[in-house]
Amino acid sequence: MNDLRTTGATRVSPGADSDRARYMSGFGNEFESEALPGILEPGRNNPQQVARGLYAEQISGTAFTAPRAENRRTWAYRIQPSASATAWAPYRHERLAAAPFALEGAVPAPMRWSPMPLPESPVDFVDGLFTVGGAGDPRAQCGLAIHWYAVNRSMQRRVLCNADGELLIVPQAGRLTIRTELGVLDLVPGEIGVLPRGIRFSVELKDSAARGYVCENYGAMFRLPELGPIGANGLANPRDFLVPVAAWEDRREPYELLTKYAGRLWRCELACSPFDVVAWHGDLVPYKYDLARFVVFGSISVDSPDPSISTVLTSPSQVPGVANVDFVAFVPRWQVMEGTFRPPFFHRNMMSEFMGSIQGIYEGKADGFVPGGSSLHNRMTPHGPDVNVFQAASTMSLSPVKLDETLSFMFESQYAIDLTPYALDAAWLQRDYASCWQGFPRNFQP
Ligand SMILES: [Fe+2]
Repeated sequence: MNDLRTTGATRVSPGADSDRARYMSGFGNEFESEALPGILEPGRNNPQQVARGLYAEQISGTAFTAPRAENRRTWAYRIQPSASATAWAPYRHERLAAAPFALEGAVPAPMRWSPMPLPESPVDFVDGLFTVGGAGDPRAQCGLAIHWYAVNRSMQRRVLCNADGELLIVPQAGRLTIRTELGVLDLVPGEIGVLPRGIRFSVELKDSAARGYVCENYGAMFRLPELGPIGANGLANPRDFLVPVAAWEDRREPYELLTKYAGRLWRCELACSPFDVVAWHGDLVPYKYDLARFVVFGSISVDSPDPSISTVLTSPSQVPGVANVDFVAFVPRWQVMEGTFRPPFFHRNMMSEFMGSIQGIYEGKADGFVPGGSSLHNRMTPHGPDVNVFQAASTMSLSPVKLDETLSFMFESQYAIDLTPYALDAAWLQRDYASCWQGFPRNFQP
């Protein structure tokens, strides 16, 4: 089961009729959706009596008083108020954790892992989460955690709610259906999904197993980066983000609600399905984005731009230009630079770089960084092309080249990333990774 290939390569096309009915497009819009007509009342969020006997509930993703450009909230009209639940009890999870982690987990060495193996017994998305590391503190709303998931079962009458942060899900293999309170997101490898803090959801599998990455963003919500001199268009365009329409069910049977709170999971029981929102309006929404739509910019003369040119989404810190975490994607593109060593250059970076591979070969590494695998080059950890890539790229003929069938990404953060003990002990940690930089010839000619 450990050789799971990317399945379901058919990408959702927002232009298809079936999808037009299921998603709305845009980023940061004020959306509204009714699965039954006549519920949303013009000019009023909280009517004395909501149409069709529903309950009104506001879900605030930002402080009430956040500036308009940052403010995110949604009004949901549901069959039962979400406050209906039994008493809470801790839920034991051996490999899910939140920052701050132990200092022993902060290592200056370059780290690389092969793909996390798929489970051999039934494991759903909650139990299949494995925390790699992170930084900051969810209680202070700063920093992030990085998780892998490897799962082979749908969540069954089980719901997750994350009070600690927003979840950016990056499938590497296996198609997912993510049912949320506000609608249903179908994700295939090559797409990403973002679930706002506090929105309840469950993850169903469309294939026998699935694997991928999760960035749990404790900080400011992801947004599109500024474009500066690029102008009004390019990188990830707002119209390519898809938000689900309202989808409800009226299932009167017990559901288990798991809530991640300050790094720990808690459980309680609901008497009926929490996916009972019949209509909603607002701008706190789950969304998805197909990385194939990313409009790449790069050099068309000499040198390579810094990887920040490939930022899809950014969570800013309070320091201008310094990200709590950026999501950066390396998608298929042309390389045409002249007189230039084209692969990513040797560098050390104040920001920490966690990378994952979704498909194909990454130009900076000849081997070892495979789909499903990961690497971490923490703050100021030197890295760059391995010996084989350096030799080949130093002597290649510099005609235009299409980098095709490749897709990798980076979570880049201002924080030094501390690793969990289980990520440091993982059997799939490549303990000889640093040897890829041994054996560079001494070419110096004084
Ligand atoms: Fe780097």
